[in-house]
Amino acid sequence: MASKTQLLHHQFTYLAFIILVGGSLVCEAASRTTLDDASMHRRHQQWMARFGRVYNDDNERQKRFNIFKHNVARIDSFNDANGHPYKLAVNQFADLTSHEFSASRNGFKGHLCSSNNNKATAFKYHNLTLSALPSSVDWRMKGAVTPIKDQGQCGCCWAFSAVAAMEGVTKLTTGKLISLSEQELVDCDTKGDDHGCQGGFMDDAFQFILKNKGLTTESNYPYMGVDGTCNTNEEANHAATINGFEDVPPNSEDALQKAVANQPVSVAIDAGGFEFQFYSNGVFTGSCGTQLDHGVTVVGYGEDGDGTKYWLVKNSWGNSWGEEGYVRMQRDVDAKEGLCGIAMQASYPTASELDDHIGKVTAVSSEACSMRVRVEAIR
Ligand SMILES: *[C@@H]1O[C@H](CO)[C@@H](O)[C@H](O)[C@H]1NC(C)=O
Repeated sequence: MASKTQLLHHQFTYLAFIILVGGSLVCEAASRTTLDDASMHRRHQQWMARFGRVYNDDNERQKRFNIFKHNVARIDSFNDANGHPYKLAVNQFADLTSHEFSASRNGFKGHLCSSNNNKATAFKYHNLTLSALPSSVDWRMKGAVTPIKDQGQCGCCWAFSAVAAMEGVTKLTTGKLISLSEQELVDCDTKGDDHGCQGGFMDDAFQFILKNKGLTTESNYPYMGVDGTCNTNEEANHAATINGFEDVPPNSEDALQKAVANQPVSVAIDAGGFEFQFYSNGVFTGSCGTQLDHGVTVVGYGEDGDGTKYWLVKNSWGNSWGEEGYVRMQRDVDAKEGLCGIAMQASYPTASELDDHIGKVTAVSSEACSMRVRVEAIR
């Protein structure tokens, strides 16, 4: 009863205020803000329910609400503005600031390893003729791509990127699509430059798989999203293997296209920007830089209805981000690095059912991270 009385009292005060100030701008602004806040609180509540978000206390809730409100306003105004070929959405990352998002998911170290190991590897697609490549490729249509996965709070995008490329080459060489284990990489590939949830390199993952002579399945060694102790039984239980890996010559989208025309390819990108965090659909055109902080897998390319060329990229942030977990990123941009640096550090595993995978190692040493930026990755 008390609260009802209070409420009435408040309403009365509010009415009196409106009557007193009349139709002045101050009043309009004030009432609009109140209404906006109420509807924003409702939006936040619906969002919390949708993504199962729970806060510890009212302070945390208020703090997250303020960030949510800020992000939603920015997303709405981006979507209301004309001229963007892509849209943003209030996704599962909407109560995180760009800084928090980058810190927890893209933990970019920018570290360069010793600079003498920068030896170029072979590039077996070098002599392909660009004009002879198909104008579009989608490896999903060939059954070479497993469903979208979700790395959660663990910064091991490097493992998801490498595994997706390996799943692709395995399908193309054996005819079998097998979902392979990221957790095996997170737990067992710890003696070199890969550090589980704290980041790693796709090439080092390939190097580990090569040395280990294979990788087990997702179902044998399921994803936990945290660093764990290596299960050595499953580590020795191989479902697929590779016989090497090669780097795509850097800073050439043409070279990248030659590779992607033949198999899914691991790439590093700068995924730290607001637009990437909230990307929803359309061809992503930035903004982003070239501070590589995320590993993903290019599983095709094409051209959309209005002639914009794109890379089809598989991400590991679940289905609710982007186009059902994918992003189409603008292709053939002016910068030689490609959009968000997509052409800077591309690589792919090689495999052949005929090759003896132990004998013919074309790989570089595990030290070969020179000039290759640590990809700490997202969540
Ligand atoms: C490309 O062609 C040149 C000249 O024929 C040859 O020497 C080279 O080995 C080829 N490269 C690859 C990767 O096949």
